[in-house]
Amino acid sequence: MSAGEVIIRAEHVYKLFGPQPRGRAFELTQSGMGKDEVHARTGHVVGLNDVNFDVRQGEIFVIMGLSGSGKSTAIRTVNKLLETTHGKVIIDDVDVQQLTGPPLQSFRREKTGMVFQHFALFPHRTIIDNVGYGLKVQGISKAERDNASMRALGLVGLGAYAHYSPSQLSGGMQQRVGLARALAADPPILLMDEAFSALDPLIRRQMQDEMMDIQANLKKTILFITHDLNEALRIGDRVCIMKDGQVVQIGTPEEILTQPATGYVAEFVQDVDQGRVIQVHEIMVEPSPVEKTAELRDAMAHLGDRSGSFVLDADGKPEALLAASDAIRVSGTGGSTADALRTDFAVARPENTLNEVYADAGRGLPIAIVDDSGKLVGNLDPRHIMEEMGRVESLIDNFEREVFM
Ligand SMILES: Nc1ncnc2c1ncn2[C@@H]1O[C@H](COP(=O)(O)OP(=O)(O)O)[C@@H](O)[C@H]1O
Ligand SMILES: [Mg+2]
Repeated sequence: MSAGEVIIRAEHVYKLFGPQPRGRAFELTQSGMGKDEVHARTGHVVGLNDVNFDVRQGEIFVIMGLSGSGKSTAIRTVNKLLETTHGKVIIDDVDVQQLTGPPLQSFRREKTGMVFQHFALFPHRTIIDNVGYGLKVQGISKAERDNASMRALGLVGLGAYAHYSPSQLSGGMQQRVGLARALAADPPILLMDEAFSALDPLIRRQMQDEMMDIQANLKKTILFITHDLNEALRIGDRVCIMKDGQVVQIGTPEEILTQPATGYVAEFVQDVDQGRVIQVHEIMVEPSPVEKTAELRDAMAHLGDRSGSFVLDADGKPEALLAASDAIRVSGTGGSTADALRTDFAVARPENTLNEVYADAGRGLPIAIVDDSGKLVGNLDPRHIMEEMGRVESLIDNFEREVFM
């Protein structure tokens, strides 16, 4: 199978929930009746309504939609965790819905790995045994599965934690273990249902980046589900937007942004290309406080490529800012760290939108992000605001350039 070939194909897939899914509810749905009315008339819930999509070998295909739009139902028909009411799902020329028993099990095992939002680890097994559990069930020897598990843990950056127990790992790390478990059997297809949705935003972006790296290196095909358009546009090669069980639009992020197929998509997109939906916590970085008693040279080294860091008081509240620009100026005159500190820094909250901090960011100084009690929880670099706001614009610009020049 070469890159670009279709590896998963959904053909006219319908899924109705209720006692008689193939009865009148299906007829009404097929004749064009919407989800709400079908429900009102028959008591059946329309999960999927004539869903068609192709996923190509090696791409990240994202299904995006609001809660209840049918995303989980769609991904579950792909490995037959759910039976379809009508229609086919073809993977590598195999009609998945026709499989049963051992052939279905080996198909799932060999072709797909699945990662869920809430990923449960066996509490009394070590990380490596958790990752290798699926292989154990397949009767693979301890040595062989440890090998595979270590390789998978290495891919998600957890090689050093193989012999820890789950309770010693943070939520984000546990979710990585979930990804490692899916990767352990080295399946060509990863099915990820809101895999990062429960993670806090900093970790979530890291995971997105790492997953994109893994995908680029291993050439997996990833079917990724999210309710977050930002996430979809960030990681998707192509994005499929669903509403009420139907596919509304499939396209590259550029196509979705610049040629929304319907008013529904346009409304979503409008929210994205404004700084008004992106919140500070999505792009702030971990604070890395400086000591006011530190040698200025050491404090500058500590800043690294940050445009500044904060000095904290005994309660963890920011009391001063060491800006890189100030530090450079003062070090030129032989001054100390204390000489370079300033107290006229801007403060914002994690839930502020980028538009709300935009004016402060114009000063070029980092903004202190504090929680309810005034404690420093993040460091917002104005460069990151510009990058984030510029990202969607540059998507559009590049797209227009390609098309019109
Ligand atoms: N087992 C079920 N029984 C009845 N209705 C269901 C079942 N699973 C899902 N649904 C309904 O199908 C629709 C799609 O659900 P789902 O695929 O879980 O949405 P999403 O993942 O996009 O939030 C929703 O209206 C949901 O209530
Ligand atoms: Mg879901």
